Amino acid sequence: MEKVRIGVFGARRGANYAQIFAKLTDRFDLVAICDKDIETLKTAEKFPGTPVFADFDSFLTYGKENGMNAVFLANYFYEHTPFAIKCMEAGMDVISECTAASTLKECVELVEAVERTGRKFMLAENYPFAAPNLEMNKFAASGKMGKVVYAEGEYNHSGPAAGLRALSASSPYHWRCYLPRTYYLTHAMGPLMFATGSMPEYVSARASTSPMLHELVGDSRHNCDCTAIMFCEMSNGMIARFTGCTAMASDYSRYRLVGEKASVETTGVVGGGVRKMYFAHTKPEDEPQETNYVVSQGDFGDYGKIAASGGHGGGDTWVSLRMYDYFVKGVDPFFDVYRSVAMSATAILAWRSCLHHGENFRVPDFRDMKDRAECLKDDLTPFPDDNGNGATLPSELPYTGK
Ligand SMILES: NC(=O)c1ccc[n+]([C@@H]2O[C@H](COP(=O)([O-])OP(=O)(O)OC[C@H]3O[C@@H](n4cnc5c(N)ncnc54)[C@H](O)[C@@H]3O)[C@@H](O)[C@H]2O)c1
Repeated sequence: MEKVRIGVFGARRGANYAQIFAKLTDRFDLVAICDKDIETLKTAEKFPGTPVFADFDSFLTYGKENGMNAVFLANYFYEHTPFAIKCMEAGMDVISECTAASTLKECVELVEAVERTGRKFMLAENYPFAAPNLEMNKFAASGKMGKVVYAEGEYNHSGPAAGLRALSASSPYHWRCYLPRTYYLTHAMGPLMFATGSMPEYVSARASTSPMLHELVGDSRHNCDCTAIMFCEMSNGMIARFTGCTAMASDYSRYRLVGEKASVETTGVVGGGVRKMYFAHTKPEDEPQETNYVVSQGDFGDYGKIAASGGHGGGDTWVSLRMYDYFVKGVDPFFDVYRSVAMSATAILAWRSCLHHGENFRVPDFRDMKDRAECLKDDLTPFPDDNGNGATLPSELPYTGK
């Protein structure tokens, strides 16, 4: 059977996936690993027989000469698009970590590269495959909820202050020091899109800043906002409220769908808790009005059983298995290039909304040529390059001390 012969670009997060590929040998050959940071590259040497490269072009050339047919992008958050395009132009399929594109211009460039080269592209969005989120999807698909009218997604990921300070000190222009709160939205929004099949159409957002974060990390970090809340009109008529990546004390990600007849919410991705609730007048005869229970990956078929031993609550393994199904068997992924850039564009415009007190923005339709032409003119970015140059947007709200 044909395999995905894959290279991993970026060996920090990428190492998690390299481990999965090295384990699922019936589906993957791990062909090469690339990272320009020598210390990080040393950790990649734990994959015996897999050559490592510090330079991307040498990695790609080796890949071309050795039958590499796909690349997993786990390089800097804001630099996925140019490398995705290079890989596709070299004849390889691409799976990209979030975010797919970091400017509106890149959204168009990515879509057009997929269309031009005919290569496959998918986003490695893993949170829809956490066990409680899989259960949420199952309930939504059962039809028992009626139409979903409202959805919430919260991705909370706080970090210890020492870690934040160390990152700023070792690499002052690192993307994590500049990431506006709306930009890392795929883990909050992705599960809502996946469960409802919907696309974002309009977005407005607001952020709040944190004096405590300012005190903890001083001036070396440029995103001391605590959280952003985004609010969307979605293509299925529902409204959705979700975060980007918050820096709140609770390290607890949760999701909720509210339908005409019932609601379902997850009470912590890690614990696997789910709560289903009917209204008194919509409760089926044979079910209680409220059910609280716990699910685990083993409840979700063959892929769940394989995923039970993988990272991020099994989500990374699901992503890998679905990537194989797409690249080798041609099964379309949910997060194709159009849905992926729609999420990136929502994050980008939501940040502009935060900077303008909640102004409402229409999310471009990247299949529409007029929208593409407008977006091609827009390359505003909050991210500086390695030397601290090139950022054209603020990455946090003006700090007032409040
Ligand atoms: N889905 C998830 O659950 C999840 C979890 C963690 C990270 N991520 C995503 O994965 C990506 C990577 O995250 P990370 O935390 O490892 O980031 P990071 O910035 O710590 O690591 C990126 C690595 O890429 C390497 N790199 C960057 N540019 C390179 C170049 N031109 N040539 C060679 N090497 C290069 C860097 O040296 C670094 O080691 C990000 O997009 C992040 O959003 C996703």
